[in-house]
Amino acid sequence: MEKITAAITCVGGYVPEYRLTNQELETMIETTDEWIRTRTGIEERRILKGEGLGSSDMGVEAVKNIFDKKGISPDEIDCVICATVTPDMVFPATANLIADKAGIKNAFSFDIAAACSGFLYALTTGAAYIESGRYKKVIVVGVDKMSSIIDYSDRTTCIIFGDGAGAVLLEASTDGTGILDSIMRSDGSGAKHLHMKAGGSVKPATVETVLAKEHFVYQEGQAVFKFAVKGMADVSYELLQRNNLTADDIAWLVPHQANLRIIDATANRMDLPREKVMINIQKYGNTTAATLPLCLWDWEKQLKKGDNIVLSSFGGGFTWGATWVKWGYNS
Ligand code: UT7
Repeated sequence: MEKITAAITCVGGYVPEYRLTNQELETMIETTDEWIRTRTGIEERRILKGEGLGSSDMGVEAVKNIFDKKGISPDEIDCVICATVTPDMVFPATANLIADKAGIKNAFSFDIAAACSGFLYALTTGAAYIESGRYKKVIVVGVDKMSSIIDYSDRTTCIIFGDGAGAVLLEASTDGTGILDSIMRSDGSGAKHLHMKAGGSVKPATVETVLAKEHFVYQEGQAVFKFAVKGMADVSYELLQRNNLTADDIAWLVPHQANLRIIDATANRMDLPREKVMINIQKYGNTTAATLPLCLWDWEKQLKKGDNIVLSSFGGGFTWGATWVKWGYNS
């Protein structure tokens, strides 16, 4: 029997219109455009404005983008997996809401919470469903409305994050293209460096938790930075080693867009020149679960069938990982 792999056969994306520039941040907090650009590489980020709009409203746009491009009907979808740490509500799952808004009626859907590695975790999970032969079409969404959990008076976090959504369609392939290998890791002892203090079962929301600003991202930037540089670079290098791949074999590195310096460290460890690295952090900032599919969305037209690409991420949890994809189509 031919080996079935899961190929990405279409990419969709959505970013909100509003651009929060470094110049606007200069008017809100004690910072400069120069500091933000040199320390992070970010120039602007998109923010979802509007009452009553949440992650599902961006996620559904990315999914509809796939339907439009691919010309498939919502009825054909078997499963929707949504990676997010900013769900519309604690429950139900945002994937349920996206599926409903997209008119997907014959599928099961659920969320994965792995912060910035959420998309890679969801991609690996979706791929396993396809590889098993049990399901034919799986949609994987990465979406975050980070502006909903950011304290815009905290200059160490508000400069980094933005809102956005990306999605991919996974289908079976037997021509050797698709998701070929993944290394995924997590270490919950890293939670102390990056988390949200209240709103969970340990510390439910109270007036006090709101006044203490405990429903926002808490991040020890330098500590996370050190772990991220090592984690993302190590796992990407290990993925190359165990598949006997060299830098020459790799067409593109698709790194999580948290900080340009972390991206450069990962590329250096893999011996990859900047021309082979997808970088859009300057225009979107860190959109958490959406960074990787938004890179694929921006670069889709340049990708060629057979290209070896490595997706790599590190984030809250800690969670990190790398995935080797042989690209399945020409646009
Ligand atoms: O995606 C999820 C995983 N997250 C990450 O990967 C993020 C990893 N961390 C980072 O990207 C970086 O640590 C940050 C961008 C968050 C911060 O950059 P940094 O180079 O680590 O800065 P720092 O925290 O060491 O701060 C250096 C200085 C400090 O001033 P002093 O103490 O040296 O006087 C900060 O108070 O920069 C100051 N600072 C700022 N100055 C201007 C911190 N934030 C700002 C700011 N504007 N926005």
